Amino acid sequence: MQEFLKRLPKAELHLHIEGSLEPELMFVLAERNQISLPYASVAEARAAYDFSDLQSFLDLYYQGMSVLRKEQDFFDLAMDYFRRAHAEGVVHIELHFDPQAHLSRGVSLQQVFDGLNRARQEAKEELGISTAMIMAFLRDRPAEEALEVFESASPYWHHLDAIGLDSAEAGNPPSKFGHVFKRAKELGIPRVAHAGEEGPSDYIVEALDALEVCRIDHGVRCLEDDGLVQRLRREKVVLTVCPLSNVRLKVVGNLQQHPLPKLLQAGLVVTLNSDDPAYFGGGMLTNFIACQEAFGWSEETFAELAKNALVHAFMNEERRATLL
Ligand code: ADE
Ligand code: ZN
Repeated sequence: MQEFLKRLPKAELHLHIEGSLEPELMFVLAERNQISLPYASVAEARAAYDFSDLQSFLDLYYQGMSVLRKEQDFFDLAMDYFRRAHAEGVVHIELHFDPQAHLSRGVSLQQVFDGLNRARQEAKEELGISTAMIMAFLRDRPAEEALEVFESASPYWHHLDAIGLDSAEAGNPPSKFGHVFKRAKELGIPRVAHAGEEGPSDYIVEALDALEVCRIDHGVRCLEDDGLVQRLRREKVVLTVCPLSNVRLKVVGNLQQHPLPKLLQAGLVVTLNSDDPAYFGGGMLTNFIACQEAFGWSEETFAELAKNALVHAFMNEERRATLL
């Protein structure tokens, strides 16, 4: 079964590239950029990844990415992940990235885009992996800042496959970003948003109504609202579910208690994703294997989940046809 899961062509729709920064590379980049880390060793960093909730993770996530300063750092970050993902049978990756978390440290959009785009080109040529870019806004920052960043990214809009919304969810409802997402819609840029991870199911409704998203990142709390579940099924809204993330951030007590089987029973369009693989114990294959162990799903179920991701990926139709 593990061999089947490895060979299954997997598309990853929910991955924060900054959350793929393994402690080994973090130390290399810290040395290169003369940045001091609060850890004495790789093992100490990993030991610190013991989270009580989303915020306790975000604190270490933003601290970890402080080693990313130059174009080459973003290239190395992405290539390191693309190689690992390729070895796990991942064929397509959609990268969320957080420009505000870099701009606030004096790192320009050009350094971020140039490094990531160079890695995407190399991944395509060397590994045969296709990629997409999702520029995410930090929902715990002011909406005006998000709009300014979006406008200042106009030279790079043509590189974007979508915009997204992430960071601390509770108390930061989607509607706060209505005008930014409206602007993206006017420009024909698709939209996704994290909702219903730690926040209430109402935020999923808001993301659909106020942001007009085509996908909900996480969305596991939709089960608290029967009407919403019916709507998600009727409108075939994709949920990018991240099982190990939900365990590590204590959204669920353990994987056996995860609502994934209920989401499938409800007939929703579910996909499996890693979110922040360096922080949550593994990438796509680790997530697939963990689900197999927790739920005992058949090959057909995993094939269906993998197909959902390929069908709904931001990917040109020619590429999709080669993968389906
Ligand atoms: N940024 C990185 N990972 C995240 C997550 N799981 N939820 C919200 N924001 C994030
Ligand atoms: Zn996420």
